[in-house]
Amino acid sequence: PTITFHQPDGASQVLELDKPERIMQAAVKNSVPGIVGECGGQAMCATCHVYVREDYLGALPEIGEDEEEMLEVTASERDPERSRLGCQIEVGSDGLEAIEVDVPEEQV
Ligand code: FES
Repeated sequence: PTITFHQPDGASQVLELDKPERIMQAAVKNSVPGIVGECGGQAMCATCHVYVREDYLGALPEIGEDEEEMLEVTASERDPERSRLGCQIEVGSDGLEAIEVDVPEEQV
């Protein structure tokens, strides 16, 4: 599985995972800037907000109830199509082998 993070300044990081992992956990473990994960992945903080690139939107799981609430209070503006919580998306399972996301300007 592969996750590509695109930063607001145009830089990007590619993480190659050796097993399925959630976007937030992979980012924090690898010190990717701009992903905080304050609540530890409980869909209760919105500091793992990402904008998923269009090509991957079709492969995502539905937005859960807690995720929906948190997406209403993100620090950077919610995009109606592309905003998701990084802790609620696992890459490497359910037909989602790779993803690219844009990291928001602000998380807190
Ligand atoms: Fe807190 Fe995702 S880490 S909502």
